[in-house]
Amino acid sequence: MSLCFSSNLITLHSPKHQNLFINFSSEPSQCFKLFRISSTTPSTKSFKPIKFSNQRFKLYASLTQSQAVEATQSSFRDKSPKDVNVLVVGSTGYIGKFVVKELVRRGFNVVAIARERSGIRGKNDKDETLAQLRGANVCFSDVTNLNTFEESLKNLGFSFDVVVSCLASRSGGVKDSWKIDYEATRNSLVAGKKFGASHFVLLSAICVQKPLLEFQRAKLKFEAELMKEAEEGGFTYSIVRPTAFFKSLGGQVELVKDGKPYVMFGDGKLCACKPISEPDLASFIVDCVMSEDKINRVLPIGGPGKALTPLEQGEMLFKLLGKEPKFLKVPIGIMDFAIGVLDFLVKVFPSLEDAAEFGKIGRYYAAESMLILDPETGEYSDEKTPSYGNDTLEEFFARVLREGMAGQELVATENWLLKSEKLLPKPWFGIFH
Ligand SMILES: NC(=O)c1ccc[n+]([C@@H]2O[C@H](COP(=O)([O-])OP(=O)(O)OC[C@H]3O[C@@H](n4cnc5c(N)ncnc54)[C@H](OP(=O)(O)O)[C@@H]3O)[C@@H](O)[C@H]2O)c1
Repeated sequence: MSLCFSSNLITLHSPKHQNLFINFSSEPSQCFKLFRISSTTPSTKSFKPIKFSNQRFKLYASLTQSQAVEATQSSFRDKSPKDVNVLVVGSTGYIGKFVVKELVRRGFNVVAIARERSGIRGKNDKDETLAQLRGANVCFSDVTNLNTFEESLKNLGFSFDVVVSCLASRSGGVKDSWKIDYEATRNSLVAGKKFGASHFVLLSAICVQKPLLEFQRAKLKFEAELMKEAEEGGFTYSIVRPTAFFKSLGGQVELVKDGKPYVMFGDGKLCACKPISEPDLASFIVDCVMSEDKINRVLPIGGPGKALTPLEQGEMLFKLLGKEPKFLKVPIGIMDFAIGVLDFLVKVFPSLEDAAEFGKIGRYYAAESMLILDPETGEYSDEKTPSYGNDTLEEFFARVLREGMAGQELVATENWLLKSEKLLPKPWFGIFH
């Protein structure tokens, strides 16, 4: 393979600063860039390019395909993290960012794949993305296009040991779910394997146990293919299925602080979860990179403490505020009615497909618990849902009350209140505006 180094982008000096600013290209028309920023670099504007050390990466170009695969499969779990190459896709997401940070903290070699504009609605440019993924090598590429993605990895010239996927559809729409939660995630398996990876850590979701939504079906299809890959030998996986993230439960904190009631469906006990913080989940995911006891396992995981219903979450919030609890209980039937109407309309106006799906997502999270579904009883089980980490929802609520939800922006798929607002007659939610 011929690697062409564009002189204006590869400037190699000063190992001390651990900064890398390189443009690899096999053809001028297929340039892509790999950046490395030290975890102590204060600003992406102050790059001090350094000599790039290939000691930390095996030069893939020098290995045949089978040698590369063999070299990594046989041995990466015996190595120290500094000799393990981890490819992270979905690195710019809510959890992905924390996973990159934790991998870097533990000393792994991280290549984080990012889009040129990342984040919700592409709000981050390259500099912001580089700052967020400090300490990792960042490769701007397109995981939705297998050829482009493979070309990017080929041009890097590295082999990988492990792929970690935190990819997820940002919209939760039907087509986007299949494009990202299935196809792009599958691309990262195919490409990762091609470039040496022998282990895949997948961030999935506990709710796939009861798949009623398109993104759950897309995730399950990929999970099944991943398991099949492992059955064929020479490849392993860890599928992490977390319960609710803190941010998904924080959407009402500032509203309640402003005097609005806490809104919940039914009696507020229809669904429960064991919320987990992003650093705790990231730590669990990174454990899966090397831990022998997490190989070829589906791993449901929640945060510390007992499961909490929306009623209990609301009570916790009012207690923190020192206010009398004030609840607005919305009959779940109203969502069923709205979904029924949307399902009917989709038959006439297919463009409403995503609106109908968002309604179903809202209904799902309003009524289904994010806990292990006990196959024997058909009930969700607090006791059977494993716990991990130390961060509590109460601490998170207290922080949001002090500092606001900055950095915790909700995407359309995760806040039932946002979705319900789209579905329900204005009077129900007019109080929030
Ligand atoms: N929210 C919860 O309570 C909860 C609970 C359990 C499990 N989960 C699961 O956790 C997973 C991750 O959640 P998250 O909140 O970290 O996700 P997120 O913040 O929405 O991040 C999604 C990631 O996927 C990337 N991505 C999306 N569309 C893409 C595209 N077209 N091309 C390239 N990259 C694309 C995003 O890149 P950009 O930054 O470039 O957009 C981002 O890196 C999901 O599978 C979710 O189902 C969530």
